[in-house]
Amino acid sequence: MKSVRKIRRAALAGAAVIASLGASGAAQAQRAPAAAPPSDAEVRARADALIAQMTPEEKAGQLTQYFDFTNAPEESKRVTDEMAAARAGSLLFVNDPVELDRLQHIAVEKTRLKIPLLFGYDVIHGLRTIMPVPIAVAASWDPKVAEDGQAVAAAEARAVGLHWAFAPMVDIARDPRWGRIVEGAGEDPYLGSAMAAAQVRGFQGSHLGAPGHIIAGPKHFAGYGAALGGRDYDEVNLSDSELWNVYLKPFKAAVDAGAGNIMSAYMGLNGTPATGNRWLLTDVLRKTWGFKGFVVTDAGAAHDLMTHGFASDNQDAGVRALTAGVDMEMAPPFGTSAFKTLPQSLAEGKITTTQLDDAVRHVLEAKIRMGLFEQPYVDLKAAERVLNDPAHRVTARIAAERSAVLLRNEGGLLPLDHKRVKSIAVIGPLADSARDTVGPWVFDQKDDETVTVLAGIKAKLGAAARVDYSPGVTMPARLHPSIFESGPHAATARPQIDDAAEIRRAVGMVGSADVAVLVLGEGWSMIGEQASRSSLDLPGRQQELLDAVIATGKPVVVLLMSARPLDLKGSKPGALMNIWYPGSQGGAAVANLLFGEVSPGGKLPYNWPRNIGQIPLPYAHLTSFQPKTSEQRYWNEPNSPLYPFGYGLTYSTFAFSNLKIGKGTVAPGEAVPVSVDLKNTGTRKADDVAQLYIHQRHGSAARPVRELKGFQRVTLAPGETRTVEFMIKPEDLTYWASATRDFVQDETTFDVYVGDDSNASLTATFEVRKP
Ligand code: NOJ
Repeated sequence: MKSVRKIRRAALAGAAVIASLGASGAAQAQRAPAAAPPSDAEVRARADALIAQMTPEEKAGQLTQYFDFTNAPEESKRVTDEMAAARAGSLLFVNDPVELDRLQHIAVEKTRLKIPLLFGYDVIHGLRTIMPVPIAVAASWDPKVAEDGQAVAAAEARAVGLHWAFAPMVDIARDPRWGRIVEGAGEDPYLGSAMAAAQVRGFQGSHLGAPGHIIAGPKHFAGYGAALGGRDYDEVNLSDSELWNVYLKPFKAAVDAGAGNIMSAYMGLNGTPATGNRWLLTDVLRKTWGFKGFVVTDAGAAHDLMTHGFASDNQDAGVRALTAGVDMEMAPPFGTSAFKTLPQSLAEGKITTTQLDDAVRHVLEAKIRMGLFEQPYVDLKAAERVLNDPAHRVTARIAAERSAVLLRNEGGLLPLDHKRVKSIAVIGPLADSARDTVGPWVFDQKDDETVTVLAGIKAKLGAAARVDYSPGVTMPARLHPSIFESGPHAATARPQIDDAAEIRRAVGMVGSADVAVLVLGEGWSMIGEQASRSSLDLPGRQQELLDAVIATGKPVVVLLMSARPLDLKGSKPGALMNIWYPGSQGGAAVANLLFGEVSPGGKLPYNWPRNIGQIPLPYAHLTSFQPKTSEQRYWNEPNSPLYPFGYGLTYSTFAFSNLKIGKGTVAPGEAVPVSVDLKNTGTRKADDVAQLYIHQRHGSAARPVRELKGFQRVTLAPGETRTVEFMIKPEDLTYWASATRDFVQDETTFDVYVGDDSNASLTATFEVRKP
């Protein structure tokens, strides 16, 4: 994909903007959509009534989504002309409410059938208020954080006139070289499914078309996260067992949660491009799972079926995508749209009217359910109010606080004591960078609305302590610039520093401070789409900076701003906390965490390897030959991760006891109740996450050594004990077996492990037996 994302800044100038709407628009915008959602039959009848009036060209238009690609005037004119001619039914990459409203007026007032446009956008972790990146939210192990965050994002998006988010990304990622690991929930299908469903609920609300909500578009269907070598877009080869038991699971959860859209992936899955893959898009998605929404391609992915050596030409690409089960083409730049050729393919008998109409119906039904025929326009005054809602900033701060994962805390260095810390040296290229703090997939954020770590610490301490700052070293540029970097956020715009001299200055600063806080990691464009990496080292000379600061002997806190498990080469700072890309309130949250106003309670959503050579290293691997020597699989270092999946410290201590299995033997299809006592044995109020893992001892296939099947994040006062209840459902004991090529539930013995990471030691067993 080649795209220049120059997003028009929303010109939300209140009254002036309202005036530009015109009387009819404002009046239309006041009309609220019907309170009760229309019935399926009613929606279908309305869609079919429209389809009966449509020409093949108008149908192809509804199946086409255009980019406003450059925002250049000639491009804008072309988009306008295409919309006026009803040659596109949807648009992406525009989030300026005035422009969206203008285009909507054209579609609704100037086209023959007056079908409104559906506006989509990459609302990945916020529009104006930026939440922590999705992998961070997964690390909260709190689906409510995901739901609340995407509800805020939806409210802001809907307010500016958008109808649909290209999110959540629910791709399982087991290879941190892959840059898009930042957009998902990590390596585990159970955690991933919980986060997928929560995000769909947050985006869509109670039903498709709920006021203040938008359509969720889980992506990229399917397998995209398993790219060969972690190289973005490269081929994916997955066994059926991995597909069904791991990679498809979060998609199924998102569909069950009612997702209105699915985006097909770019790459080939086991040799068949995902966007031309009938088995995936029709057999699995529609027939097996009963998906009722519409399928969009990733940008240009239909046309791209030629690149794969799959389709013979652009027309064939359109035919192959449509007949595989795609409904809408997210078009590549003008001129190469494959779906534009659908009328010709219909005339030549290469597709049927039924195939074309089914796709059009799926798209029109989404527009009907979203209430666009009743309320197509943007209420610009309301938009301003929603974007400035202070409650949104609170949601973002809480999300960042709940996402942080404390990995080391020697001698209880954290939390820092307000009263005792009189001077603090804040160091690192990410410590005061607003752009990096919000992370990738942010186009419209305002730097002055973002709280950096430095700003957060300063605001917290006020005049009570001296805060010195040094960037320490330069954040280096990528080998080739990112497609997302431009203007003030281009790599070339970063401060260029004499690293050796600045390291000396930083070390001097630390020498005269009580404590050093280093903010290290990867810049925002080093992660995300087209941001795969062949190393897990700290980029540039950050490692040298870290080692020099540790050598001072002063207490050192390292805050990692990263979505990859970085390799610190054995450096042992006093404290190490992963703060991810914490979003626009990140610095405020980090300050609250550093000074103990809240305790970190996040847990890793992936195994953190000791070394890049261990990748992939999923905790849920199969038991294999000589498991007792599994720690010796490499002769040069242990095989275990540096930090296991599910790991994270708090400012307190916790103990699990009294693990009880409600029923020692159950029949297939029966649920298994489990309970455990969790006690805060420390002196501070804090959160811990009770995690339940199972292991099937024998059966139709070899199963993972451990699999997460339940979790609960709980807050406990010092000395408080809570009994945490789990219910292992029959579907948690069911899996897809290659031997039977179907889902099975075996009669067997299960081990249960409960604790606060994937190495949990408290264990019990139960049996599944036919009565
Ligand atoms: C390509 C990306 O793969 C996809 O995730 C994104 O939604 C589209 N481009 C639109 O930006």
